[in-house]
Amino acid sequence: MSDITVRPLGEDDWEDYRSVRLAALRESPEAFVATVEEEESYDEDFWRERMQRSARLVAERDGVAVGVVSVGTAKASDGSAGELFGLWVRPEARGSGVATHLVKDGASLAAERGHSHLVYWVGTENGRAVAFASGMGFRPTDYRRPMGVVSEEDGEEEIAMLLPLGVDTGPQLRL
Ligand SMILES: CC(C)(COP(=O)(O)OP(=O)(O)OC[C@H]1O[C@@H](n2cnc3c(N)ncnc32)[C@H](O)[C@@H]1OP(=O)(O)O)[C@@H](O)C(=O)NCCC(=O)NCCS
Repeated sequence: MSDITVRPLGEDDWEDYRSVRLAALRESPEAFVATVEEEESYDEDFWRERMQRSARLVAERDGVAVGVVSVGTAKASDGSAGELFGLWVRPEARGSGVATHLVKDGASLAAERGHSHLVYWVGTENGRAVAFASGMGFRPTDYRRPMGVVSEEDGEEEIAMLLPLGVDTGPQLRL
């Protein structure tokens, strides 16, 4: 099997990001709060602005996008925690190390940006994603929030999982 490369996307790569993001929403609607119908309607300005808001990493094999992840700053923290989100791997590429490459590169990027921890919100019923994150060293926390895919009343929850990134400076986490 050929090598996987992970490429950080710049603003001008917005169409590459749009393409893999829409594929993720189309294939795994239960895993994401956003919908493909909603995001298909966004214009170029929106996607360009989105590229600047967080880092977007795409995994490629033979020049074909096989996975994606985003890395930003955790909204409700004091800035010391980075946030990993929007993780997706094409079904035919799962179990082959693509997600590991994406998360390792995402964690390195967050560490380079000075974050001490990486937060990852994941659906408590998304067994594969929780198992994957645990295998990467993310620890479960007591933080939960409604998933909000169908409605706030559907009872589905996300759990915040936390990965220390090297030197622990004791973040004031307020999620
Ligand atoms: C989550 C995702 C990125 C993980 O990538 P992956 O290539 O499937 O991950 P891996 O196969 O390397 O690892 C999954 C782990 O869960 C285990 N696993 C596989 N299927 C599982 C299942 N149905 N339930 C629980 N665990 C499962 C694997 O054995 C592996 O554990 P191991 O490393 O101890 O062997 C991928 O499954 C995906 O894109 N899912 C759809 C989108 C999604 O849910 N994204 C997360 C949104 S928060």
